[in-house]
Amino acid sequence: MKHNPKGQKTLNIGFVMDPVEKLFYAEDTSISIMEEAQKRGHRIYYFEPHQLFFRNQNLHAHVRLVNASLANGVQVLSEKMFDLKKLDVVFNRKDPPFDLSYLYLTQMLEFLEPEVFVINSPRGLRKANEKLYIFEFARWIPPTIVSKNPFEIERFQKEKSFDLILKPLDQKGGAGIYLLPQNSKYRTRILSQATSMGTKWIMAQKFLKENVTKGDKRILLLNGKPLGQFRRIPKRGEFRSNLSLGGRTARASLTPREHHLIRSLRPQLLRDGLYFVGLDVIDGYLVEINVTSPAGIPEITELEGKHLESHVVDFLEAAALSR
Ligand SMILES: Nc1ncnc2c1ncn2[C@@H]1O[C@H](COP(=O)(O)OP(=O)(O)O)[C@@H](O)[C@H]1O
Ligand SMILES: [Mg+2]
Repeated sequence: MKHNPKGQKTLNIGFVMDPVEKLFYAEDTSISIMEEAQKRGHRIYYFEPHQLFFRNQNLHAHVRLVNASLANGVQVLSEKMFDLKKLDVVFNRKDPPFDLSYLYLTQMLEFLEPEVFVINSPRGLRKANEKLYIFEFARWIPPTIVSKNPFEIERFQKEKSFDLILKPLDQKGGAGIYLLPQNSKYRTRILSQATSMGTKWIMAQKFLKENVTKGDKRILLLNGKPLGQFRRIPKRGEFRSNLSLGGRTARASLTPREHHLIRSLRPQLLRDGLYFVGLDVIDGYLVEINVTSPAGIPEITELEGKHLESHVVDFLEAAALSR
C-alpha cells in the first residue's frame, strides 16, 4: 500500500463489471463510487469476468487502469496483466443473470480472501439468490410460492384468490416477469411460458397493487444500515417499476416499519458478508434483496443532492485498512 501526498494510504481497487461501453455512465452507481475513490487518490482497475484467469495458482486478470466520472464515463489509462492479490479491494459489480458462469466468478474471487477485501462476499453471493433470500426474512414478505410446477402455482392462486406476479430467480431489471390476474383466461399459457413449460423455477408472489400507484421503494444498505432510499413508480401501462422499464423516481423517507425491517435483516446480512445491498420494498413488504450490483446512488444524488458514494468509499477504506 502506498501513500498519497496527504499521507493517506492509496488503495488499489478492482471493479468486476459488465462491459462499461454498455453502461449509461451518467447514472451509474459503480461509476459514482469509482469517481469518488479516484478523487481520494485510489487507483481504479476495471476488468470483466472473461478477463480473469488462474496462472501459477494465482488469480490474474487483464485489467485496465481507468479514470472514471459520471460526466465523462470511463477512460482507459493503461492495460496490463495483474496479479489480483495486489489489490486491496475487489468490488464485484457484475449484473445478473446469476448463471453458472457467475457461480464460477464467485468461486474464483473467493481465492483472494482474506488478504483482499471482496465485496459483496463471494460466499454471500452464492448463498443469497436475489429472489430466494427473502425467505430468510419470511415475516416481512408477501405470500409467496416457488415452484416449477404450473399446477402447484395454480393451486396456490385458487386457494388465495389474488393476482400473482411471476418472477424468474436469476434475472434483474424486470426481465422475464409476468402478471397473472386471478381470473385470467390465459393462465395455462402464462404459467407455461413463465416456467418454460414446467422446467424453470419461478417465484409466484401476491401482486401488491400499491406498486402500481405508489411504486416500490429501493432502500440501499451499507454495512447493514440504511444509506439512502427512493421510490420508483411504474410508467403508465406498466406494472414493474424498474428504471430500465421507464419507472420514474421520487423522494422517499423510511417508515418505522421499514426501519424495523432493516434492523431485523442486519445481523444476517453481515453474517453473509453482504455489505452493499438494495432492498425492494412495496407497501412495507420485502420483495427482493439485490446483492449482485445494487444501483441507486446517482438517483438519490439527483433527488436529494446527497453524495452517498463517499460513505461507500469510507467503508472500503476502513475495510481495506483493517486487513
Ligand atoms: N409482489 C409484488 N407485487 C407487485 N409488484 C411487484 C411485486 N414484486 C415485484 N414487483 C414489481 O416488479 C419489479 C421487479 O421485481 P423484482 O422482484 O424487484 O425483480 P427484478 O428487479 O430483479 O426484476 C419491482 O420493482 C416491482 O415494481
Ligand atoms: Mg428489483
